[in-house]
Parts: sequence; C-alpha cells; structure tokens
Amino acid sequence: MTMTMTMIMTMMKMTTTMYILLSLLCLCPFANCSVLNLLPPSQDPFYQPPRNLANLDPGTIIKHRPTPQKLSNVFFTFNLKNSWQLMYRTTDTFGNATATIITIMEPHNATADKVISYQTAEDSAHIDCSPSYGFQFGAPHSTLMTHLDMRFMIPALSRGFYVISSDYEGPNSAFLAGMSSGYATLDGIRAALQSGNITGISNEARVVIWGYSGGSVPTGFAACLQSSYAPELSRSLIGCAMGGIVVNITSAAQAADCTVFSGLIPLALNGLCNEYPVFEREIYDNIGPNHLENFIWSQTNCWIPGMYHYQYTNFFTGDNRTFQRGFDILQDAQIRRIVNENCLINLNQSYLPQVPVFVYHALLDEVTPLQDALQLYRQWCDWGIRSFEFAEDFLNEHVSEQAFGAGAAWTWIEARFDGVEPVSGCEHTSRWNNLYYPNVSQDVRDLLTGYNHTLIDLLVKDEKWEV
Ligand SMILES: *[C@@H]1O[C@H](CO)[C@@H](O)[C@H](O)[C@H]1NC(C)=O
Ligand SMILES: *[C@@H]1O[C@H](CO)[C@@H](O)[C@H](O)[C@H]1NC(C)=O
Ligand SMILES: *[C@@H]1O[C@H](CO)[C@@H](O)[C@H](O)[C@H]1NC(C)=O
Ligand SMILES: *[C@@H]1O[C@H](CO)[C@@H](O)[C@H](O)[C@H]1NC(C)=O
Ligand SMILES: *[C@@H]1O[C@H](CO)[C@@H](O)[C@H](O)[C@H]1NC(C)=O
Ligand SMILES: *[C@@H]1O[C@H](CO)[C@@H](O)[C@H](O)[C@H]1NC(C)=O
Ligand SMILES: *[C@@H]1O[C@H](CO)[C@@H](O)[C@H](O)[C@H]1NC(C)=O
Ligand SMILES: *[C@@H]1O[C@H](CO)[C@@H](O)[C@H](O)[C@H]1NC(C)=O
Repeated sequence: MTMTMTMIMTMMKMTTTMYILLSLLCLCPFANCSVLNLLPPSQDPFYQPPRNLANLDPGTIIKHRPTPQKLSNVFFTFNLKNSWQLMYRTTDTFGNATATIITIMEPHNATADKVISYQTAEDSAHIDCSPSYGFQFGAPHSTLMTHLDMRFMIPALSRGFYVISSDYEGPNSAFLAGMSSGYATLDGIRAALQSGNITGISNEARVVIWGYSGGSVPTGFAACLQSSYAPELSRSLIGCAMGGIVVNITSAAQAADCTVFSGLIPLALNGLCNEYPVFEREIYDNIGPNHLENFIWSQTNCWIPGMYHYQYTNFFTGDNRTFQRGFDILQDAQIRRIVNENCLINLNQSYLPQVPVFVYHALLDEVTPLQDALQLYRQWCDWGIRSFEFAEDFLNEHVSEQAFGAGAAWTWIEARFDGVEPVSGCEHTSRWNNLYYPNVSQDVRDLLTGYNHTLIDLLVKDEKWEV
C-alpha cells in the first residue's frame, strides 16, 4: 500500500513538473527561438508537392534529401547514423492524390529488416508544427511535443531498428482527420520499403506501427484501412500498438472542455476545418464575435503553446463559452457526419484490423476516457478480431501513461519481431502500472523512469531554463 501511495505521489509530481516545465518553455514566442537558419515548412520549397500527383502510385517517393539539420532533442542525446526526409504520394480524405513528408532515422549498426513506424502526437493545425521540422536541431520550442515523443523511439533505435515517422496530417495539417492520416501512415511505410537505395531499409522489412493519443488516430486508422487500401502490406505489417486512444471525438471534447487540455478543442476543430471547407463554414459561423480572435490563434500555433494559451477555456460550457449553442453544434448534420467519419468507433466491420493490436490505456485518463477505449475493444472482439490485447493501468493518467505504458508497448512490439505468437482473440489485463507489464527489460524500465529525473533535473539544474 505504501508503495502504491508513493507511486501515485510520484506520478502526480511528474505530471505537475512536466506541466510547469512546458509552461516555462512556452513563454518563448513561436518562431523567434530558432537558433539556426532552419527553414520552417511553410517557407521551405521541399514541402511543396509537384503537380500531376495522380499519375503516381500511392507510396511513390517523389523527392528526398538528408535532413537539413541533425535530429536532436532538448531532453537527451539523440545520436543517429543518418536521417532523411522523403516526400511521397498519398491520398486525402476525398480519395484525391496528395503528398507528404516522412522522416527516416537510421541508428548506428542498423538492422535493414526491422522498422518502427512511430506516429507522433502533433496535435496541431499548422504546417510549421510538423514532426519532420520539430525533430531537427534548431527547431523552435513550439514543436516541443515532437521532442517528448522522440523519447519512445530510443528503445527501438538502441536495438538497431529503423524508425520512420510521417507528417501524417499532410499538407493541410488536418489534425484528427482519420482516413487521410491512416493513408499517409500506410503510404509512408510503402515509401520506406522502397527507399532501400537511399536509406538501406530492406523491401522485405517487417514493420510495427505505434502511436499515443493524437498519434493513435493515424495508427488506428492505418490498422483499419490496411486490408482495403494497402493489402500487400499484410506481408510487412506485424503489429499495431497504440495508447491513450482517441475513439470518440465528441466524448473526448466533453472530457477536455475547461481543463488543462482545453486547447485540444480549437486545435482539433481547426484541423478538420483545414480538410473540410463545409466544416470550416459551419464552425466559424457559430463562434461568438468576442471569441473569434482567440479561436483563430490556434490556426497558427502548436500543441504545447496551445495547451498553455487555452488552459481552462470554456468552449462548449459555462457563461463565457466560445460556442453559444454549446455541445449542440456537434449535432448539426454536416458537423456530425464529419465528426463521425473521423472516429474509430464508427468504422464498420469491413474495417476490422487484420494485424494484431495492442492497446495500453489508463483508468484515470482525463483526455480520452477509458470507457470509450473499452467500447472499441468490445466492438472489435464481438466482430471476431484475430488478436487484441488490452493492457489497462489503474494508477496513471493520460500524460504519465504515455511514459510508463511505453514499457508495455515496447515489450509487446519486440515480442512480435521475435516471432512470439500474439494472444489469440481477445485478452484484457490490468495492473497498477504498465511499467510492470510482464518482461519489460530493466534498461527500458530505467529509461522510462529516468524521464522523470530528466524533466526535474532540467527544471532545477539547467540554467538555460531559469526564469
Ligand atoms: C478531388 O478530385 C476531383 C477530381 O478528380 C475534384 O473534382 C474534386 O474537387 C477534388 N476534391 C477536393 C476536395 O479537392
Ligand atoms: C556497432 O557494432 C560494433 C560491432 O558489434 C561495435 O563494436 C560498435 O560499438 C557498434 N557501434 C555503435 C555505435 O553501437
Ligand atoms: C533508386 O532506385 C530507383 C529505381 O529502382 C531509381 O529510380 C532511383 O533513381 C534510385 N535512387 C538513388 C538515390 O539511387
Ligand atoms: C460518442 O460519444 C457521445 C458523447 O458521449 C455519445 O453520445 C455517442 O453515442 C458516442 N458514439 C458512439 C458511437 O458510441
Ligand atoms: C471570455 O472569453 C474570451 C476568450 O474566448 C476572453 O477573451 C474574454 O476575456 C472572456 N471574458 C470574460 C468576461 O471572462
Ligand atoms: C462499411 O462502410 C463503408 C464506408 O462507409 C461502406 O461502403 C460499406 O458498405 C460498409 N460495409 C458494411 C458491411 O456495412
Ligand atoms: C514473458 O516471457 C516468458 C518467457 O519468455 C513467456 O513465456 C511469457 O509468455 C512472456 N509474457 C508475456 C506477457 O509476453
Ligand atoms: C521520480 O523522481 C523522484 C525524484 O527524483 C523519485 O523520488 C521517484 O522515485 C521517481 N519515480 C520513478 C517512478 O522513478
């Protein structure tokens, strides 16, 4: 019991510390903190897709370059042998050809046939928040969320796996657009498997897709779309791991309104506005005049500054709410249709994942409610999914589960590469902390608990961060 209490205290402290730290970093304005002359995507010609994309097969590599700067991280050493950016052809929500960027990371002593496709939680509606930019040395602190996600690539890279990570929101920065982000993830894998003469990745490589929270959207949709959109990838794709999963956008919005995470609401709405002109008209027509300027701010700012800026804002509830009509506006026919088509829970049985699925989710998740995740689990199990393991965690919440649950996810992923059979059918397990999932190796456990220290050390010791 004492141990349990200590763990709760530690996690609360960790979440609070991270929150304070992030708040401090956000005092730094958007673009002015860049230490190098690294061009943001909005000004970089490499991000401009060529014309006539429709003639290319999905996944075709259009152009490539070594990343303009080395990949680096404010929290820890991130030492790769090589890294590249590829532009590849993919498909938008309406089935039309488009193109986006993928970052390919080659560790030292890489194994050509092992690839992790890690989808970051970009959670932003502007192209200058793209992970391909945020990964690099010299990117502004506004892209800090990318740095926080890079932590979970370390176990893979240190074991010689290639890590690939696409700008799955595409050129429209369509945060929360499920179909297009799923296509972009699958086409990114196709591009990586064809990139051998650039990157050394084998075209026979095996691949696991992984993402948490905002990153669970492209990951989950990729798993659901694979059998129809990219059937040939059934040879390559051996698993899908995701956590803090976004299942139902409406109930996530209800959970987030007027909390620390309020900022997810305008960022997500703007992400869908970027993809659907009709959604944009309806949303903007419903914003109270006194709230318009504040809402528009989220068109050009990334998630971590957005979290800071909008904390405890009322979008749908309270006297001073942005949308006078409250949650009712999500019931307007067009808005409702678009929201529904971007929710995993609304995909019918023809989209049931063929690839083994692992989900890690915290009981105390305050952003993506556990009930929704369990609803998806029951639905897919009722439909006879081949393999779905659900690892529930009693003591963590959304932010801490991303760190500690990564231990479970990585261990499950490694077992797929080792050829261990995944569970047959469905299995729901629970434990106090997913860091204590069976067989999590000591080095991974140390790494994940170490993030706790890294953040605290940064806050108290490193003069760089002094207020
Ligand atoms: C998609 O492409 C079709 C023609 O191929 C075009 O008519 C339509 O406007 C495009 N839709 C969007 C949203 O770009
Ligand atoms: C790569 O592998 C060789 C041989 O096993 C080893 O000596 C070397 O230290 C490794 N390099 C890195 C950077 O891990
Ligand atoms: C890689 O191979 C493809 C076709 O196999 C070719 O079109 C392309 O130019 C090659 N790229 C490089 C960098 O060698
Ligand atoms: C999604 O959540 C909303 C709000 O809680 C609920 O009304 C709706 O029924 C849910 N959708 C599904 C498919 O369960
Ligand atoms: C109401 O909310 C807006 C932001 O949407 C804010 O600018 C304004 O100060 C708030 N008004 C009051 C009275 O709190
Ligand atoms: C599933 O949904 C798709 C797209 O909405 C539709 O084309 C298909 O007919 C549906 N399949 C079933 C079995 O309901
Ligand atoms: C843990 O490892 C043991 C021995 O390799 C194996 O039998 C067991 O199935 C593993 N447990 C899980 C949950 O992977
Ligand atoms: C987190 O850091 C604190 C302070 O350094 C330490 O007491 C605690 O044990 C750490 N928690 C974990 C899970 O490692």
